[in-house]
Amino acid sequence: MPEQIYQEAKDIINQLAVTVKTSQIHDPNNIAVINAIEKFLAIINPIIKAEGRLTIELIGEFFYMNDNRIRYSLEHILNFDCLIREFRKRGVGSIIIYEPLKIDDVKVFLRALWAAGFSENPFDTMLEKLSGLNRISIDKLKKIKEEPEDYDPRRAVKRTYFNAVSYTKGIITKIKAGEKTGIKRAKRVIENIIDQILEEESLLIGMTAIKEYDEYTYNHSVNVSILSIALGQRIGLNRKSLTDLGLAALFHDIGKVEIPPEILNKPTNFTDEEWEIMKKHPFWGVRALLKLKGFDESALRSVIVAFEHHLHNNLSGYPKLRERLELDLFTRIVTIADQYDAMTSSRIYSRVPLAPDKALSILIERSNDEIDPLLLKFFINMVGVYPVGTLVMLDTKELGLIFETNPNPEFIGRPRVMVVVDSKGNRVKGPTVDLTERHEETGNYKRNIVKTLDPNLYHINLSEFML
Ligand SMILES: [Fe+2]
Ligand SMILES: [Fe+2]
Repeated sequence: MPEQIYQEAKDIINQLAVTVKTSQIHDPNNIAVINAIEKFLAIINPIIKAEGRLTIELIGEFFYMNDNRIRYSLEHILNFDCLIREFRKRGVGSIIIYEPLKIDDVKVFLRALWAAGFSENPFDTMLEKLSGLNRISIDKLKKIKEEPEDYDPRRAVKRTYFNAVSYTKGIITKIKAGEKTGIKRAKRVIENIIDQILEEESLLIGMTAIKEYDEYTYNHSVNVSILSIALGQRIGLNRKSLTDLGLAALFHDIGKVEIPPEILNKPTNFTDEEWEIMKKHPFWGVRALLKLKGFDESALRSVIVAFEHHLHNNLSGYPKLRERLELDLFTRIVTIADQYDAMTSSRIYSRVPLAPDKALSILIERSNDEIDPLLLKFFINMVGVYPVGTLVMLDTKELGLIFETNPNPEFIGRPRVMVVVDSKGNRVKGPTVDLTERHEETGNYKRNIVKTLDPNLYHINLSEFML
């Protein structure tokens, strides 16, 4: 699919969602619906002409257009979710359009969609209502998960995550523009994360393992916040402290708003001058946080962390200090989360993303000098020796992605793994296997991890499996 069409794919899904939503509240002949349909057709018809046909398919949490996965982007997240719900409700997995459409075709489609919504056999009803229309056909939803459909904790977790990212984007934009902004809403976002860490720790940590989102800065802040809260929870901090910690972690890099974007997003190495500017962000962070509305004790903790987060345990980092100082506990937590997330992401400090287990071994090398060794032990226990998202080779010759860590520390090396390449070398999606499973006769483990692999080398797309 040509690059430009790929760009438009997001808009197609979004406009389809808008059309569906509008037709939910209005009659198909209503002007608002017609407008939405016209916009939708204006994007898709040229593509259908060029490509011969257009397939929109839902697999898991992702839409694919003519077999290309469509990226999530923040502003569309709610519309995407809404469309996913409507597809699922009717068991529809794909819509195939064979020829450029007319407004009336879409009206028929929308009527079929809503008729199916009230039917006992929604998919069949929809198929039947579309039978007169040979330009559009639909296909059944393929199940990729065995979980029950009514409550999917993954969706709840995903929502919390994207909410946090979109909030972060909002506040960073405001601060950049010099607008006054407060921290009340930030606290609510953090509260949500805390609630979910108590219930679905492993899933939420899993969200931080997906590194292909559109914008590094916002996701990085949220990831560091999630990892810090999870670590804080493991060492027994109370709820109030967790909120302060999460807030401090979310704002640790806020000083970067003052770094010119051409430096911040530079694809090559920094010059010495550019490094000097980068190194000012802890100081600029302090300045930005002091300006927040409703500045209180929590915000004060954030100021400390923003200032200290690159200092390192032995104070060898930056900014340079005149006097010795004992790093704040929150700083020591955030430093671990920050370095881990930065190393495993493809941007900023490490331009090539490291596999999660490699990042952990670097952190181990850095412990004492840069990193608090005891906190690091807790951190490794938390993300697992094989963190979620690590690609591993099993002794059955299967390749698998670490899907969920084992909550029992005794079995830290035996997580749940989703098989992505079977023993014959075929790409598969699942099953998800538990490495603590044993053979009945021999009592030996059925599968063991042989080694970890670099998912980039195998072109394995983590988000496709994790979401
Ligand atoms: Fe930083
Ligand atoms: Fe950072």
